[in-house]
Amino acid sequence: MKTRFQLFLIFSLYCACSAPKTPSLSTIDHQVDSLLSMMTLEEKIGQMNQYNGFWDVTGPAPAEGDASLKYENLRKGLVGSMLNITGVEEVRKVQKIAVEETRLGIPLLIGFDMIHGMKTMSPIPLAEAASWDMEAIEKSSQIGAREAAAMGINWTFAPMVDIGRDARWGRVMEGAGEDTYLVSQIAKARVRGYQGENLSDPLTLAACVKHFAGYGFSESGRDYNTVEVSRVTLHQVILPPFKAALDAGARTIMNSFNDLDGVPATGNSYLQREILKGKWSFGGLVVSDWGSIGEMVNHRVAKDGKEAAKMAVLAGSDMDMESYLYVSHLKELVESGQVKESLIDDAVRRILRLKFELGLFDNPYLYCDEQREQEIVGSEEHVAGVLEMAKKSIVLLKNEQNLLPLKKSGLNIAVIGALAEDKDSPLGSWRGEADPNTAISVLEGLNEYPDNKYNFAKGADLVLEQPVFLKEVKLNTTDRSGFVQAIQAARSADIVIAVMGENGFQSGEARSRSEIKLPGLQQELLEELVKVNEKIILVSMSGRPLDLSWADEHLPAILQVWHLGSQSGHAIAQVLYGDYNPSGKLPMSFPRNVGQLPLYYNQKSTGRPFNPGDDIVFWSHYSDVPNDALYPFGYGLSYTSFSYSDLRAEVLENQQVKIKVNVKNTGPREGEEVVQLYLHDHFSSLTRPVRELKGFQKISLQPGEVKSLEFLLGKEELGFFDGEGNLQVEPGEFTVMIGGSSKAELALKFEID
Ligand code: NOJ
Repeated sequence: MKTRFQLFLIFSLYCACSAPKTPSLSTIDHQVDSLLSMMTLEEKIGQMNQYNGFWDVTGPAPAEGDASLKYENLRKGLVGSMLNITGVEEVRKVQKIAVEETRLGIPLLIGFDMIHGMKTMSPIPLAEAASWDMEAIEKSSQIGAREAAAMGINWTFAPMVDIGRDARWGRVMEGAGEDTYLVSQIAKARVRGYQGENLSDPLTLAACVKHFAGYGFSESGRDYNTVEVSRVTLHQVILPPFKAALDAGARTIMNSFNDLDGVPATGNSYLQREILKGKWSFGGLVVSDWGSIGEMVNHRVAKDGKEAAKMAVLAGSDMDMESYLYVSHLKELVESGQVKESLIDDAVRRILRLKFELGLFDNPYLYCDEQREQEIVGSEEHVAGVLEMAKKSIVLLKNEQNLLPLKKSGLNIAVIGALAEDKDSPLGSWRGEADPNTAISVLEGLNEYPDNKYNFAKGADLVLEQPVFLKEVKLNTTDRSGFVQAIQAARSADIVIAVMGENGFQSGEARSRSEIKLPGLQQELLEELVKVNEKIILVSMSGRPLDLSWADEHLPAILQVWHLGSQSGHAIAQVLYGDYNPSGKLPMSFPRNVGQLPLYYNQKSTGRPFNPGDDIVFWSHYSDVPNDALYPFGYGLSYTSFSYSDLRAEVLENQQVKIKVNVKNTGPREGEEVVQLYLHDHFSSLTRPVRELKGFQKISLQPGEVKSLEFLLGKEELGFFDGEGNLQVEPGEFTVMIGGSSKAELALKFEID
């Protein structure tokens, strides 16, 4: 028998000869088959095993998870991938064991949650979604990919494409909001940004679209909770972004913690075998979520780990993230005839194929270059890139009497709130390997405009101690000792900038909240400030839509700035001073109160629709608040204004419709507008939303300039999915509505045959 080195050598030579740079898929399939034929059953199962690194965790650590077992299995060739190992030096160590110490020398996939940057942080994904700028989002994803790849990573667990309709769910920060169409477009942009043109380019990564499926519908916004959705909602609302990401080339997909139709997604054959690998012919790899195979025991559908492993593999989960169950039980399951070896082969093929595509067989250390790491990570180009993205992500929610932009000199400004000096929170949740306290704070950003005077007073601490990823955030709810100074500063100021909202770790995984007002003592402080100075600009920093009803009623200006990443303070200051004209539009509705949740603009008509002007109460509404959002999906102001006119529709052959509209900049300065097109289907065989986004374009206009825009609607836009996932296009009347938010009023009817 040959030694592992000889085998590896022959194999590498074979690859080098037959696959010059970017091997075609059929070449790769051939290579995969020959490697597979050399593997023992145990080695194959080893490829399906993914371990967490030896230090960082992003979930509960399993009992078996001690480092010595991991090392032992790594040396035996029983590990196909590792996650949470970062930095060339560390990655090289484990890759070296896999390549030099195992029989076949198969390199590892190195996975990591690079969600919105690695060291140089971009805004959180929900913030980026507010830009509606696909080019910018692609570029920002590329920056993250470049830094992660330079730090040894070859696989990111992103993009998350779960639909976020419930602001209580902390993970809305990680997605692109509530709308299926917008989320789908952003998913494509991110996949392009991560994977580039060529996966074996050492500055690109494999994407992993997640969480398949339904995770965003966790009941009452509580993370990891039960999911109840109909097949129609599954096909119309939840699945299209996954399909879009896969069509854009995403090589991997992650399943989810939740159940669907009573079956956990990880063990759900309908999702993984029927839809994903069947109807959609997905050829890439499916990874479980952290421990989700083992969690099927907690779901009480598998009586033990062995049964859970069997359920997962039969349902199409190819790789076990940190459950230790495939490596412990699959061999026995195959040998006893309960699982066919062909299923194992299919899973391993998918895993090996990705390793070939990433170029790991040509060079297992492709992503391990210290010099590249030094040059790329934190480069000036990246810093400039995340600043651009941050500016585009800001949404101006209210601006009475044009309080903004601010004059650049002669003002005495009180800057209030702990978040104003916070250099950590803007980094947000899922912050890669960002060093703590490295973001530009709002105060630092304002200081770049030195001709105004700034008087900073914290008022109150937001948190009691610096929060960490794994632990609950401890809020200050009692210490008001700084209130007096803050009130005094506000009283003597021309203008107050109140920076308030959420700490960077108050959103993200396991960060659900049942209350979404300003946390801690901030609301109380704000109410004190308004008594002494009405000119307050609220800079709302959060990872989710907050309940800003009180602020909307009492303050003249509100700027939604999310968690904007490393360059946060510079971006915010440039918008406050008008050096950047805000152009962001909300990707998620901001509710009037928590009781409205889940809330989304594309609700259905119901049998008792909105009926204002009638004093009969028996229609679908609340008796204490209106039905609609405080700030709706698609909404956002600019320092200029726009008007819409000349909406035209031309029905073409083959169920296509051309829509035209004119947009004019009617205000005093250059600005960008997101022109949004919504459709309403008058009658259909299934109940349908009152309106749905089906197109948008972001344009820039000089004052007085008019642009004529064209949209082409085809079957995908005019049709809808039924409960089996088949696209139906039904003839009849539609109304198209175009404007600058989901409240767009300019409307026109057309009919298709
Ligand atoms: C659990 C999360 O749900 C998933 O999104 C993430 O990729 C894994 N942990 C790994 O950290």
